Amino acid sequence: MERLQKAIAKAGVASRREAERLIAAGRVRVNGQVVTVLGTKVDPERDRIEVDGRPIRTEAHVYVMLNKPAGYVTTAKDPQGRPTVLDLVASVPQRVFPVGRLDRDTRGLLLLTNDGYLAHRLTHPSFEVVKVYRAKLQGAISRQAVHRLRNGVLLDGRMTAPAQVRVLSRSIDSSWIEIAIHEGRNRQVRRMAQAVGFPVIELVRIQFGPLRLGDLASGNFRYLQEVEVQALRNTVLRRTGSR
Ligand code: URA
Repeated sequence: MERLQKAIAKAGVASRREAERLIAAGRVRVNGQVVTVLGTKVDPERDRIEVDGRPIRTEAHVYVMLNKPAGYVTTAKDPQGRPTVLDLVASVPQRVFPVGRLDRDTRGLLLLTNDGYLAHRLTHPSFEVVKVYRAKLQGAISRQAVHRLRNGVLLDGRMTAPAQVRVLSRSIDSSWIEIAIHEGRNRQVRRMAQAVGFPVIELVRIQFGPLRLGDLASGNFRYLQEVEVQALRNTVLRRTGSR
């Protein structure tokens, strides 16, 4: 048996404190009865718990890191029938979904989970979760272009936030850079690189918040360790601005 607010929080519907507010507001039913008493004990395996009339899921949360290959879309279903990242995690028994998106041709670290609450926070711009990419660019990138990438580029009439940029290699034909951003604008790295005159040839995400891709092979996935899940939670404890 556990406290009702804890069972709701574990289901990923809300934080513990938000769950308390939901209960106090009369939005939670247990076995059909509205319960407003905080701390009511429930058996998440047996009791039917509903929030706003919707049953909560009491199955365990899972967190999966995938090394996404190029050619897979990050949507659950592709109207054109192209392979999706869910095809690669088909052996995970729980119904997981991707946290954020990578373009079809972008490779690298993609997190998948059935924890909707954490996923929402990790993708919400106000938490400024850092994402690190390695990008192969066409041509020998100039100092000026690096400077512009660092300071911000105009996309859709709005400047990108400052980025950390390192040049890893440079030749006449191509350059590799590492770029850390915390916004999640559509095709952001590709459009930033294009805007400074050095289009992306290859793009790989190597870090998402505290998680690093490491030596996970392309197309493979692994379950996160408890310390990694805790590190993710710690990343989104507080919104920026309220630090
Ligand atoms: N930026 C991009 O341009 N593409 C991605 O997939 C991720 C970040």
